[in-house]
Amino acid sequence: MKPVIVGISGASGSVLAQGAIDELLRRDVPTVVVCSNSAKLVWQEEMESSFNECLAEWQESPHFTHYAINDLRAPIASGTYPTAGMVVAPASMNSIASIANGLSGNLLLRAADVCLKENRRLVLVPRETPLHSIHLENMLTLSRMGVVIAPPEPAFYLKPQGIGDLVRFTVGRIMVALGLDDALPGDLQYGRQ
Ligand SMILES: Cc1cc2nc3c(=O)[nH]c(=O)nc-3n(C[C@H](O)[C@H](O)[C@H](O)COP(=O)(O)O)c2cc1C
Repeated sequence: MKPVIVGISGASGSVLAQGAIDELLRRDVPTVVVCSNSAKLVWQEEMESSFNECLAEWQESPHFTHYAINDLRAPIASGTYPTAGMVVAPASMNSIASIANGLSGNLLLRAADVCLKENRRLVLVPRETPLHSIHLENMLTLSRMGVVIAPPEPAFYLKPQGIGDLVRFTVGRIMVALGLDDALPGDLQYGRQ
C-alpha cells in the first residue's frame, strides 16, 4: 500500500490531525507526517498530550514515519516517491494560500505541491472563520485543480455529543476523500443512526 501523507499546519484543530493519524495507523496504512512550526504552537495550546508524546506513541507503529518541516531532502519532497496522496488537517489559511500559489518553502508545502503536479489526491481541512475573499479564492483555485476542500463542519443532523463526535465525522470524510473508504460508516450517514 502506498503511503498517505498527513500535513499538520497551524490552524486550530490539532485534534483533527491526531484523529486522522490514529485512524490511518489503526488501518495499518503507511503514514508519513510533517508538522509546521506554528502547528506545534497550536498543539501546545489545544492538546492534553504534547506533540512529542504523540509522536512517541505513533512511532511504535512500523507504519509511521515523521519528517521535520525543514527536511526538504525527505522522500515526500520528490514526485518520484510514490504516495497515495495527502491530507492537510487542519489547514491554515497561510498554508492554503501558499499551496494555491505554488509556493513550496517547507516540506509540508512541497509535499502538497508534489501531489498537485503528480495529479495525486490532495485533501485540505481548512479552519478559519469568517473567511474573506482571498481565502475563498485560494480554495476555489485549488478546488478547480481537483483538490477536496473538506472543512470540519459538524453534521448537526447526527446530534454530535462533543468534540469526539465532530472529529470522528471529519476523519470519516477524510478517509472517503483519500479513497480509503467508499462511503462514511453507516452511523455517520444521514437517516441511518
Ligand atoms: C492558537 C492559534 C490558533 C490559530 N488558529 C488558526 C486558524 O484556525 N486558522 C488559521 O488559518 N490560522 C490560525 N492561526 C494562525 C496560524 O498559525 C499562522 O497563520 C501561521 O503562520 C500558520 O503557519 P503554517 O501554515 O506554516 O502552519 C492560529 C494560531 C494560533 C497560535
